[in-house]
Formats: sequence, C-alpha cells, structure tokens
Amino acid sequence: MCGIVGYVGSQSALEVVLAGLRRLEYRGYDSAGVAVLADGGIAAAKKSGKLVNLEKALVDRPLPAGATGIGHTRWATHGGPTDANAHPHLDNAGRVAVVHNGIIENFAELRAELAARGHALTSETDTEVVAHLLAEEFSGRADLAAAMRLVCRRLKGAFTLVAVHADAPDVVVGARRNSPLVVGVGEGEAFLASDVAAFIAHTRSAVELGQDQVVEVRRDGAAGGVGVAVTDFDGRPADVRHFRVDWDAAAAEKGGHASFMHKEIAEQPRAVADTLLGRIGADGELILDELRIPAAELREVDKVVVVACGTAFHAGLIAKYAIEHWTRIPCEVELASEFRYRDPILDARSLVVAVSQSGETMDTLMALRHAREQGSRVLAICNTNGSTIPRESDAVLYTHAGPEVAVASTKAFLTQLVACYLVALYLGQARGTKWGDEVLGVVRDLADIAGAVERVLADMEPVRALARSLAGAGTVLFLGRHVGYPVALEGALKLKELAYMHAEGFAAGELKHGPIALVEEGLPVVVVVPSPRGRSVLHDKIVSNIQEIRARGARTIVIAEEGDEAVVPCADHVVWVPVTPTLLQPLVTTVPLQVFACELAVARGNEVDQPRNLAKSVTVE
Ligand code: M6R
Repeated sequence: MCGIVGYVGSQSALEVVLAGLRRLEYRGYDSAGVAVLADGGIAAAKKSGKLVNLEKALVDRPLPAGATGIGHTRWATHGGPTDANAHPHLDNAGRVAVVHNGIIENFAELRAELAARGHALTSETDTEVVAHLLAEEFSGRADLAAAMRLVCRRLKGAFTLVAVHADAPDVVVGARRNSPLVVGVGEGEAFLASDVAAFIAHTRSAVELGQDQVVEVRRDGAAGGVGVAVTDFDGRPADVRHFRVDWDAAAAEKGGHASFMHKEIAEQPRAVADTLLGRIGADGELILDELRIPAAELREVDKVVVVACGTAFHAGLIAKYAIEHWTRIPCEVELASEFRYRDPILDARSLVVAVSQSGETMDTLMALRHAREQGSRVLAICNTNGSTIPRESDAVLYTHAGPEVAVASTKAFLTQLVACYLVALYLGQARGTKWGDEVLGVVRDLADIAGAVERVLADMEPVRALARSLAGAGTVLFLGRHVGYPVALEGALKLKELAYMHAEGFAAGELKHGPIALVEEGLPVVVVVPSPRGRSVLHDKIVSNIQEIRARGARTIVIAEEGDEAVVPCADHVVWVPVTPTLLQPLVTTVPLQVFACELAVARGNEVDQPRNLAKSVTVE
C-alpha cells in the first residue's frame, strides 16, 4: 500500500504534490519521490525513509518549476526501502516517469523481455517495467493514455499507476485495477490520488474511477480549464461517477473513518486479497518472497517452532493446526519472550517461524537470533519490508496488509493467518505431503475469504449495538475450541487493550476445570463455535458448554456459521459468519470480535488508535 499523487494545473506541481504526499504518508513511509515536467524534460528526486528526507534533499537541490507532476510515498513490497527502489521510476531516456501502488505479478517475465530488447533496469521493483513499457508504447503514438491502456492490458496483479511523459507536458494519466485511484477536479486543475485526503485542500469535487479504467487529465491551455477523459483498458469511453467530498481534512486521512482502527478493520478484505497476490508460480507452485533455504533442507525439517508476541502469537497458535494437519510435522508455538530463556531443543532440522507485523519486536528478534545460533533456519512472516526480522531470516513471506497505524493489530492479524496457511502449504508442497491440486484447492478457498470477510463487515451493526449495551460490564469471557480457541484469546486481548476491561480467553473444554467458577448472573460470555460440518464432535461439545454456562446465568454471545440452527436455543445473541473450511474459520470469526472491542472502547470513551500504556512496536525486551 503506497500513496500516489498526480497534478496538472497552474500552481507549483512540486508544492501541490508534496502537500498531497504529507496527507498520504500514513499509507507508507519507506521512501518518497517526485517528478515534475519542466524545461522540456523530467526533473525527479527521490529518497529512502520518510518524506522529510526528500524535503531536505529538495532544499539542497531544488527542482525547476513546473505545473505538471507526480509523487509517491512507498510501502515497500518488491525490493528494499532504498533510494534506487523509490518511485518515480523512469525509462532509460528519462522521458517517462511512473509511480505505482500494488503488485505486478508478471513483472519477472516482463523484465526478462525488456532486458532482451536492450532495456537496462536498475531497481529491484516490479514497477520499473511499466516505465519502460510505457516509453515503448508512447514512441510513434504520442498518446500517453493510449500507451497506458496497452501496457495495462499486459499487466497481471493489482495496480494503481500514474505517469507523465516529457513530450506530453499538459497531461497526467492514471490507471487502476484492484487498487484505489480518485480524481479531483478543481478550477483549471486536476488531481489524481490514492485517496481524497491528498487534494481536499484544493477541491471537493471528485470522480470515482472504476475497475480496469484509464484516466487522462489534460490542461486545456486555450480555455484555461482541464479535461478529464476516462476509458476502459480497450479505449471505450467509461461512465464516471462524480461525487462531492464532505469530509474534513483529518477525517479524509482516515478515509472518512472515525479512527485508523476502524479504517484498518474495513481494509481487511483488500489486505487478505493482497497477501495472496503473486503466490502461485507459472507451474502452479507456491512462491515465498525471499528463500535462502535449499529445498533439500526443507524436506528434512523435523520440527517447526513458531515464535511471536501478542496478536502475532495468536496467529502462530492457529498456524499450528494447519502446519500439523497439512505437513504432519510436529509444531510448537512459543511466546518469543519466553523462548530462549528455557533453553529450547533446536538443531539444523528445526524450522523456526518468526511472526511479526513490525519486524522490529525485540523479543521476537532475540528468539530468532537464538534459533540461528543453534543452527536452525528461520522463516519470517512480516508486514514491514526491510525491517530487522526479515533481514536476519533465511526466508521471508511478506504480508501485504499495508501500514497498520492503530496500535491494536487487526488487518495484520488476518494477513498473518493467510501467510501462516501459505507457509504450511509450502512445507506440505516441499515435503510432498500435499499434492499440487490440493495446494491450489486451499489457495482457492483462501481467495474466497476476502468476500466472506466483506460479508461479515457488512452486517456489524447488531454487534456494535451489543457492544454499546455492555459498556458498563466488568468482565467478558471468550471461549473457543480447536482453531476457535486462539480466536477466543485474540478476542480477549483486543478487549483488554482497547476497552481496558477484564477479559479472558479459554479453551471451552477447560471450563469445567476451573474457569466456570467465574460465571455468574449476567456475565457476558462470547463463544466461538466450530463448524457443525467439519468437526461435528467438537461442535456438539461446545453447544453443551454453552448450555452449561447459560444454566449458571451467563449472557451468551455466540459466533456461529450460517445455518447452524443448533446454537439458537442456547444463545442470547447470535453473530452469523459465512461457511468456510474448518481450518480457515478464524479469518471470519475474528472480525466480529475486533468490531466488538473497538465499539466497546469507543463507548467507554477510550482512544482506540493509541490505547494507554502501549506502543505499536515494542523494541525493548
Ligand atoms: O509487530 P509485532 O507483530 O511483532 O507485534 C507483536 C505484538 O506486540 C502485537 O501483536 C500486540 O500484541 C498488538 N498490540 C495486539 O493488538
């Protein structure tokens, strides 16, 4: 997830673009760059790190003035957060500049093709191929929108692209597929941006671009206005929807949501889909991002140990079910903070999986270093490209959740789960415990999850109302079985950190061994019910557990699969989730618990993005 701005008008493009990037920096801050059309050419500057680094560089080496420009603030996916990988990317002649958000899945084959035609590609990004392809298609045609359409037809994956060409000084073009792009239309000026926050200070009049569309914004010198033309990738004119932005500037940065956490919960369908992008190779095999472990070693792995903290630890607990089921390799899951102090038994045949959103959590980093000292290989699942944990690992699978700003982890958790499932399948594939068609079958099920999460999110008002009604409660318990048990732990953690309430998660089968003593009249108990299809024994047992606590006065809030009528008689409230394969169920059952905790926190007057006493990245042990 990156932030993109394009501008054509009469103001200083550099100033407008930089101001837009400042408002989009929440989307990524690995690097920033700008390109301005000036003096018949393109003047560009880019710098790794936060936007402020670029701004300092521009003070030292100012760009010439121009009224057409583009800019980018990066959340690294392909290639580390370096100056060379920063956008904009230019072709070899320096006549075209392009910025990109998304992942171009077939970039390797396009890159090889361009290299064979004599192009020199200088970065590690997937984006750079677009600059070169655009330059080729523009030459002899002199129509940047037409060139963009031809290029887009060749791209696979998800992308927003915005480009300028030195020979089309009054034009900026953009394109989108499965990635956001909006057009702002002002008096004699137009803006392209990842979201309206970038241009709300200039105009509230906007145009929404549809899927697979190309937009050209052109300054009309004679009339002093700008034209906006939208087509599909085949050049057919498209219907466009105009709308008026009525958010204030602060709300715009959060996409109109009340907080970053609300926004990040809503972004989960996209985050899940993005994490799956580009995972299947040409021969149908699964692909990790960086793999420095020989296949023979992976086949020899005799133990998997997942190390992580907090929410990432809960993702690891769920991973255990998938890893053991699909690979038949024993899997341990350990709190990273405990790991090295108990002298764990590790050797060269142990694979340690370190899960971390930030990639900087000190406990997880220390666990990783300890594992490597013992000769074990480490595979990282991480959301932050270029951070320490993936840098020090032998293999990496990046989640593509985009920046998670709110301290409470939501979209990172769902994408960590997707990544854990992919790692389990990868090991199964490497060891031959899963056939190729079985792997593809699960990947197809995973691909359906984004839609399922969207359906859950569409029906959350009853959950919010329930949360508000519990604002005065002292304790909430969470129960689950099988993969629903870590979901219960995660539900309780969310409530503790956001609502500052006493909350505990239990394996429902443990209830009779002690925790049931906590149950008293009116105590809210959330129960995550396994599917009645896959594990009918467990399902029946948990229904009995619900009856037991209800008989003791508990107010039962049941998360159950659509059509599971058996839970209705024993539930005070039922939250329905779509039918999913048993192992993937946490991807849908966690979502109502996030919404529940967030709403309860708001109802109690808490600051959801920055809960008290916490930090987003815990870089001390
Ligand atoms: O960046 P990491 O995934 O390594 O962070 C691990 C935990 O600190 C984190 O998940 C924490 O528990 C969250 N605040 C939970 O919402």
